[in-house]
Amino acid sequence: MRVTALCFLSFLIWDSAQAAVLVRIEPNRLQFFKYESFSVSCEDQEESLEAAQLRVMKMTQDGELHPCSSPCSICDAFPATDSGKYWCETDVGTNSSEVNITVTAGSLILETPVHPVTKGEDATLTCRCKDLISGCSNNVDFYKDGIFISTSSPGTMNITIQNVSRSDQGLYKCSVSGVGESPGSWVTVRAPSGGLLVPRQDSDINLLSGFGLIRHLVVATPYVLSTILLGLIFKDQRKRERGET
Ligand SMILES: *[C@@H]1O[C@H](CO)[C@@H](O)[C@H](O)[C@H]1NC(C)=O
Ligand SMILES: *[C@@H]1O[C@H](CO)[C@@H](O)[C@H](O)[C@H]1NC(C)=O
Repeated sequence: MRVTALCFLSFLIWDSAQAAVLVRIEPNRLQFFKYESFSVSCEDQEESLEAAQLRVMKMTQDGELHPCSSPCSICDAFPATDSGKYWCETDVGTNSSEVNITVTAGSLILETPVHPVTKGEDATLTCRCKDLISGCSNNVDFYKDGIFISTSSPGTMNITIQNVSRSDQGLYKCSVSGVGESPGSWVTVRAPSGGLLVPRQDSDINLLSGFGLIRHLVVATPYVLSTILLGLIFKDQRKRERGET
């Protein structure tokens, strides 16, 4: 009984030591104009991994997977080959959460929070025009899930959603009449952390999803087994000692 509890405990300790890997985008946004440059890197919050053990994974819209060492620099971004899902993988089986990056040939992009927004916080959405586009002083309209929600604050190209709640989660875009509209980006809302299983306030990790869980188990199994074995040997030794005296 005690051995089982010990194994479980050591599994938890083993696991939390390698859990916190975050995707960082520089500049920090999800939408880019065609021919812009950006970089995606993996940040190990616990600093328990070698940089070489972290890699960026990119899945383009046609479903093709492109591994890239971290930091992954993208110069002269192109809509078809650089738009897609990006996440970080490690040799020990931890995946970060994913981000959707969109590269557009259009004249407008929308800046949304890159990582999920915590319930109760404020979220600012900013519309941005490509350089040298005339007409961008016009009012900006913002849409959520295809429905108009608001016009930008006077003199700005942004809106702030205060006290974010679950119902603010959705697909946002912005539009300027005579110029066009931005691609859509998801704003995700998550519950305030406080539970024991969330290691950091600013980290958003999917610890136990799909392949991640299987890989955790596969990697952890020898460790757990050796712990059980050690426990049994220890018990055996104590029994023998007691038998001798
Ligand atoms: C935020 O919204 C919640 C309900 O969604 C409300 O109970 C709370 O008072 C609000 N907080 C502020 C600071 O407005
Ligand atoms: C990425 O995009 C897909 C489909 O467009 C969506 O279902 C998913 O929730 C998005 N993920 C994030 C983290 O925004």
